[in-house]
Amino acid sequence: MTQLFKNKVALVTGGGSGIGRAIAESYAKEGAKVIIAGRREEVLREVSEANETISYVVADITNSADVTKIAEAIQSDFNGHLDILVNNAGWAPVTPLKELTIADYDRAFALDVRALLDVTIQTLPFILQSKANIINLSTVGAQHRGPNMSMYLGAKAAVENFTRVWAMELANDGVRVNAIAPGDFSIDPYAPIWSF
Ligand SMILES: NC(=O)c1ccc[n+]([C@@H]2O[C@H](COP(=O)([O-])OP(=O)(O)OC[C@H]3O[C@@H](n4cnc5c(N)ncnc54)[C@H](OP(=O)(O)O)[C@@H]3O)[C@@H](O)[C@H]2O)c1
Repeated sequence: MTQLFKNKVALVTGGGSGIGRAIAESYAKEGAKVIIAGRREEVLREVSEANETISYVVADITNSADVTKIAEAIQSDFNGHLDILVNNAGWAPVTPLKELTIADYDRAFALDVRALLDVTIQTLPFILQSKANIINLSTVGAQHRGPNMSMYLGAKAAVENFTRVWAMELANDGVRVNAIAPGDFSIDPYAPIWSF
């Protein structure tokens, strides 16, 4: 490895599993110090124990007080230094309109949109100070069709437009904002694959 991210600090929400874990471990292998956040401590602990430079905060990021715990950890453990924020945690509900309830909207947008915004707002002072990178996880489906996925794809469409607007707003601060839009992807070979 090239130690490309030596002395860098990264925060990866949902970094205990899936794509988030792969991102967190890739940064760690390149020398970064990485904070991962999620609800399941046993999952986070396992990743942290397997990677010397990965630490964790147990947090449900739909809860603002938990997001504050993440910001406090960045302040106390890294003196407020943050080079990379990866807004990765997301949830992909599959429910046709005929069966949707407003509770489905609340749950999907609470994580995929509100929590992403909350984490970004609460870490923004660090991001501005470090001229950091923000990376938001979208999905290829946000630009295409996906029957029965209106809550997920609507939420990710919001994430893509947040990304475009924030990129324009923060360019003069030296902060880059980008989105990644993966296609169907699973680290678990037995997980079901959706098709658009
Ligand atoms: N997999 C794909 O094919 C695919 C395709 C396109 C886009 N994406 C996007 O890529 C991102 C990662 O996807 P993935 O498939 O790797 O997801 P995943 O395997 O389901 O992992 C989601 C992660 O988010 C965490 N999380 C969920 N709710 C949370 C909450 N309330 N607070 C804190 N953490 C929470 C989970 O940990 P806990 O359960 O412990 O909280 C978990 O570590 C998502 O934004 C997804 O929409 C995925």
